[in-house]
Amino acid sequence: MAPNSEFTDGAEAANSLQSICYKRGSLQLLDQRKLPLQTTYLDIRDSTDGWHAIKDMVVRGAPAIAIAAALSLAVEVFNLEDFNGTPDEAFSFIVMKLEYLVSSRPTAVNLSDAAAKLKQIASTVAAATSDAKNVFEAFIEASEIMLEDDVASNKAIGTYGASFIQHLLENSKSISMLTHCNTGSLATAGYGTALGVIRSLHTEGVLERAYCTETRPFNQGSRLTAFELVHDNIPATLVADSAAAALMKDGRVNAVIVGADRVAANGDTANKIGTYSLAVSAKYHNIPFFVAAPLTSVDLSLSSGQEIIIEERSPKELLHSQGGLGEQVAASGISVWNPAFDVTPANLIAGIITEKGVITKKGTDAFDIKGFVQKAALQSGA
Ligand code: MRU
Repeated sequence: MAPNSEFTDGAEAANSLQSICYKRGSLQLLDQRKLPLQTTYLDIRDSTDGWHAIKDMVVRGAPAIAIAAALSLAVEVFNLEDFNGTPDEAFSFIVMKLEYLVSSRPTAVNLSDAAAKLKQIASTVAAATSDAKNVFEAFIEASEIMLEDDVASNKAIGTYGASFIQHLLENSKSISMLTHCNTGSLATAGYGTALGVIRSLHTEGVLERAYCTETRPFNQGSRLTAFELVHDNIPATLVADSAAAALMKDGRVNAVIVGADRVAANGDTANKIGTYSLAVSAKYHNIPFFVAAPLTSVDLSLSSGQEIIIEERSPKELLHSQGGLGEQVAASGISVWNPAFDVTPANLIAGIITEKGVITKKGTDAFDIKGFVQKAALQSGA
């Protein structure tokens, strides 16, 4: 079942860069498949609508899909009228729905990380209450906090990233950045990760130009990142994915910055397909390559990127124009390999910019992310 209704340019759609519009009991998601030409929001009534919106790319980007999934279930439990179960039954209901939501897209860890945290909260409350409503209430509140926290986390990534990059580039006042896919307001609750760093460099007056790749086959770069850059009046140029190496060779790029869907404990990073080739080109041209991601994108249970499950998407994304949404363009009968992500090894990454600071390598090929996370937890008294 697809999300049930849509509306265009309504009051909630006033900010065209807001992918998630939520108030208690109601959720609308900006249909990113229609951007930049149409601003259409879909009404999400429950986890089934949420699952379809994620699977079908209405909402995409690792942080945004985690928050959208949580809020779709928050809306469902808020509007449940005929639930007469015990707290344990309320907990089981939440677990079942979360497992379903996690099955929508496998690569971004933010979704399963959010589900695990929400399960834990619901379980603690279920054990301590005799009223199922309290379990649902705790779930709703925790989901709402995830929405609020994401923007703050992105702003911190922006600040840390901009200052680290300026320092690395010896306080240059004209920095040009290349980015891939869409990691901005549309991929998060607001502001963005890699694009947040570019926004911060621009705010500080040191950004000469942002280059964004088209990001074939789904064109998140040309449709979404270009849209955000134009919206914010940031000097920006769109390039074909295949032009990136030539752009670097021409000396037009000072640093490359991308987001992440899952970062393994050694720093190997899964991100949008094409990220790996950008990192290889950057290494060849001696250009620093950064990953910007919240710690919710880190999966310490995986020792390296080899263990990351890479989602393969429909051949239609290549066989038809507009990332599968338009007319057929490829020869009928051709077979297709369409991985949505690739893994960039840690040795190609200069630093991982998080909301707690920038993780760097200390004379090795791998990052000690576990050590960084433990130190950050100690510093924040957690
Ligand atoms: O397939 P998508 O559009 O969900 O892929 C998005 C990316 O690869 C992003 O770079 C990543 O999720 C980080 S978004 C802040």
